[in-house]
Parts: sequence; C-alpha cells; structure tokens
Amino acid sequence: MSQTLLVTGAAGKLGRLVVSELIAKGGSTVIAGSRDPAKLADLAEKGARTARVDFDDEASLAAAFAGVDRVLVISTDAVGEPGQRLAQHEKAVKAAVAAGVKHIVYTSMPKPEPGSAIVFAPDHYGTEQAVKASGLAYTILRVSWYQENFLMSLPNVLASGQWFTAAGQGKVSHIARADVAKAAAAALASATSESVTYNLTSEEAFTTDEIAKIASDVFGKPIAVVHISDEQLKAGLVQHGVPEAMAGFIACFDTNTRLGGVTPPTGDFSKLTGQKPRSLKAYFETHKSDYVK
Ligand SMILES: NC(=O)c1ccc[n+]([C@@H]2O[C@H](COP(=O)([O-])OP(=O)(O)OC[C@H]3O[C@@H](n4cnc5c(N)ncnc54)[C@H](OP(=O)(O)O)[C@@H]3O)[C@@H](O)[C@H]2O)c1
Repeated sequence: MSQTLLVTGAAGKLGRLVVSELIAKGGSTVIAGSRDPAKLADLAEKGARTARVDFDDEASLAAAFAGVDRVLVISTDAVGEPGQRLAQHEKAVKAAVAAGVKHIVYTSMPKPEPGSAIVFAPDHYGTEQAVKASGLAYTILRVSWYQENFLMSLPNVLASGQWFTAAGQGKVSHIARADVAKAAAAALASATSESVTYNLTSEEAFTTDEIAKIASDVFGKPIAVVHISDEQLKAGLVQHGVPEAMAGFIACFDTNTRLGGVTPPTGDFSKLTGQKPRSLKAYFETHKSDYVK
C-alpha cells in the first residue's frame, strides 16, 4: 500500500537529498516540508508535494502532519540557544502523535548520552527520549560526522601545512551526507513498524594522523599534525579571532573524539540500503577541486 512520507527540513542540504532519493524510489507520496516552501520548487517539479513546516509554528505542523504515515524529523541547525533545538524537536514529536503518524525517523548524533563532550548532545539525547516516550514506532539514526565537514577546516590546514588537534589517537568514521540521505530514505520508505536505533558510519575509522595522510596523498600537499591540549586548541582559535564560545564549540569535537565519543564503524548503513558507504579517500578524490584551487 502506498504510504505518505513527510520529510521536514527539506530545503536543507540533507533534506533535499532525502526527498530526491524518495522520489527516485517511487511508490509513495512524498511531502517535502520546509520553513520556506518557495525553496522547494525544484523538488515539486520532480514530483514532491510541498508543505510549510516550521517547528516554531505549531499550526504549520498540525496542517503538514495530517494524513502522514511516516515522518523524517531532521534535526535543526538551532545550536546557538541552549534548549531551543530540543524544544523544536519536541514540538515535532508532539505534532506527529497528535496527527496519528505511525512511525517517526530522527537524525541524532553518535553517543549522545549524558557525559558526551559535544555541547549540543543534550538536544539529541532529549529528542531521542521524547521519540521513545511518544509511543510511536521509531527509527533513530545516530549519524556520524559528515565527510563534508572537512570543508570547514581542511582548506586552512592544506594552506598552512599544519593541523593542530586535540583529538589524540581518537578515531572517527566520517560518513557522506549523501549516504545519510540514502539511509534515511530507506528507513522512511520501509514498511517496518519495528523500533530500532542505527549508527550510520562508513566502513573505516581514522585518527587525525591517518586522515592527514589520506588528505596529503590525495591533495599532494604535506600536512604536519601537531598534537596539543584542549586548552591550547581553544586559545589558538581565539588568538586567530574566533569568538570564545565558538572556539569552545569547535574544540569540543576533538575532545569528544579523544575520549572515544564517536561510534566505531558499523554495518548499519549497508543494512538499511544494501549498498557500501563512500570511503573518506573516495570523498577527497571526487571533491578535490573544493579543497585545492
Ligand atoms: N552529522 C554531521 O556532521 C552534521 C553536520 C551539520 C549538521 N548536522 C545536523 O544535521 C541536520 C541536517 O544537516 P544539513 O547538512 O542538511 O544542514 P543544513 O543544510 O544546515 O540544514 C539545516 C536544517 O535545519 C532545518 N531547520 C532550521 N530551523 C527549523 C525550524 N524552525 N523548523 C524545522 N526545520 C528547521 C532546515 O529546514 P528548512 O530550511 O527546510 O526549514 C534544514 O533542514 C542539521 O540541521 C544539523 O542538525 C549534522
């Protein structure tokens, strides 16, 4: 039986990819939801219905969630104000229950439990708890860090030839955003009513030294990895003009990695999609021009 699937945050980079995956799969009614449906014209042209979905506007949720069988709640980018993002997600869960949605899929993060060094972990952990308490069947996707996050830091590393890190020998298994979209689309379009938590990673995890070696080989530039403390990393960022709060935000990722706060590789991506995830090396190779001008 054809299901009606809603993707929130459909104008975002992940949401767009998920909607495109669902349309390509066919066999279901796909609703792309965004704060600004005008940004969804290309997805509407491909065959998606569109709806206004703003977690801060409960009336928009009641209207958009009506008649929906399964919803993918994409976590928002409101990481600045403590509590704001969790409140947004809780409203989305509440609206799903009120509308009689059968299954909720949520994009969480690795190991969000209390004790995580990641400053926004409580948003994800709190949302997971709200999803579990909702009584709806659920699929929680604990998404590892995107390979695409390297766009924020690696160009500077390549330019300077130095990579300052507090991650020590901690390892991360970065995943392609497009692979997260494939897994999310598979979870949403599935007929399962089982409640499961998946950890989405690629097949290998690397230390910063290993990532530097891969990047150096692919981009043909030398990278010296300099191991420093959390405090030194924060101070260095501040010295380079990064505001204190932002420096703490950036540095917490290294702390978390060093302390083993990221999930080791799992086969969950392949379980959901039947495919192999893109490797970090393949990502660097196919996006070389984004890194080396
Ligand atoms: N795993 C990682 O490494 C990683 C990295 C960055 C972010 N993330 C998380 O994953 C999410 C998706 O990643 P992305 O790359 O697609 O990020 P993005 O392009 O920055 O998208 C931000 C998302 O937040 C949604 N949003 C913001 N305010 C909202 C509101 N009031 N109500 C409903 N939705 C709202 C946006 O939806 P509309 O614009 O369509 O309303 C959009 O989908 C991010 O929002 C963030 O929570 C994960």
